[in-house]
Amino acid sequence: MIDERTGASALPERGRPADEVLAEIRALRAQDRPTHGGRLFAYVYDPAVPGLDELAASAYAASAHVNGLDPTAFPSLLAMENALVGAAAGLLGGGPGSTAPGVVGSVTSGGTESLILAVKAARDAHPEIAEPRLVVPASGHAAFAKAAHYLRVALDVVPVSPDTLRPDPAAMAAAIRPETVLVACSAPSYAHGVLDPVAEIAAAAAEAGVRCHVDACFGGWTLPYLRRLGASVPPFDFTVPGVTSISVDLHKYAYAPKGVSVLLHRDPALRAPQYFAYADWPGYTMVNPTIASTRSGGPIAAAYATLRHLGDDGYLRLAEATRDAVAGLADAVRAVDGLRLMAEPESTVVCFTSTDPGLDLFVLVDELTARGWHTQPQLAYAGLPPSVHLTVTAAVAPRVAEFGPDLADAVAATRAAGPVTLPADLLALAGTLTPETLTPELVGGLAAGLGLAGGKGAPQRMATVNTLLDAAPPALRERLLVEFVSLLQRPAG
Ligand SMILES: Cc1ncc(COP(=O)(O)O)c(C=O)c1O
Repeated sequence: MIDERTGASALPERGRPADEVLAEIRALRAQDRPTHGGRLFAYVYDPAVPGLDELAASAYAASAHVNGLDPTAFPSLLAMENALVGAAAGLLGGGPGSTAPGVVGSVTSGGTESLILAVKAARDAHPEIAEPRLVVPASGHAAFAKAAHYLRVALDVVPVSPDTLRPDPAAMAAAIRPETVLVACSAPSYAHGVLDPVAEIAAAAAEAGVRCHVDACFGGWTLPYLRRLGASVPPFDFTVPGVTSISVDLHKYAYAPKGVSVLLHRDPALRAPQYFAYADWPGYTMVNPTIASTRSGGPIAAAYATLRHLGDDGYLRLAEATRDAVAGLADAVRAVDGLRLMAEPESTVVCFTSTDPGLDLFVLVDELTARGWHTQPQLAYAGLPPSVHLTVTAAVAPRVAEFGPDLADAVAATRAAGPVTLPADLLALAGTLTPETLTPELVGGLAAGLGLAGGKGAPQRMATVNTLLDAAPPALRERLLVEFVSLLQRPAG
């Protein structure tokens, strides 16, 4: 039998029967946070629609071995990709009958890939710019920084106001330089769920003759439905002049299984530099719109099946349930003395902070976890306090009434426990750390002190780890977490 924490060698001497292998996977999966049940507020998107998982899994299986590498060999995939792109374009102000009838796009593996490709297309449209630059608000997703890093594009980060959590459009405009190839903004941001002033930012970009990407990876599939339900959602899509590309993740609020995002461009000329083509070798001429070359048809078929099954009316219903869940959760937060919403919810995020030093957010996160609610702590950053993030999906709606009492109970326990105080030896060690001086021995000592060592994964209570990270500057956070994660990523023995 396998060790349920570490798994087994993936290559046994003799092959194992199918039912045994599946039992092993189920045993491993039992350690995971619950992907269904409406109590996990990050990582997963659950509409709680009966039968949807089974449908998506069947569709996935039907196309898992089809290869998106060559759309002429597998027209089924091409058809489904085009259908997904068309649906996304239609939802986001493009397509036939709109003011942006020429919208085209690609299906990518996720939001990060969509953003990397948006940056690549913008960069490669300007081969004459030797040192290209990207303007992004501080609240922009970390994937923009990853894109900049991978593509050697310099990043100009514009601060966001601690009150509105948005960048000042004038500051965005002022950050545009002759070398700027792309200006980016979010609709909405992941961390706080607020929409950037897209119209003003896109106008400034257009005035400077620079592309403008709207990262709607997170909320692009929900905002149009929330608007139809009466919410006042400012224009953020291709109806806004100057918006040249938009990303929207189908594996988020389109509720498709993981591995699908759509990157849209206003017209084919804008998309052209996204492609990579190579004929200078003896094999097949490679033509790729995306980073991966071989691409499984599984995620595409699963997303296609999900959209077809849920339909426009289904997404409207799911958005309504989500909207009501957001309102209920926000009320529960408002009812607690010492907690403050970071922003009034305008999409599907509830994000709050503590205004009371006696109410330690990181302890509260652990107390909520102990009560079966899995929230996401966010560390202090550039004048913004630490906060707790809740990504709300339709599956949360039936659970909302249980949240308020559990939150109140968790708050009482948090106050009783008092704030985290780091052990003196850990504090002393942490005080001497810089990213440059971090050695494997130091990291090993820290990991042991924090209960992260021993190959057993993360400890149940993370408040001490989060407090330490919160006290560290971003560069040290990055180094520490890389080291901690690399301690976890070891082959099974
Ligand atoms: C606004 C936004 N952009 C980009 C991403 C990156 O998406 P992925 O994790 O699919 O790569 C996310 C993920 O949460 C997001 O919220």
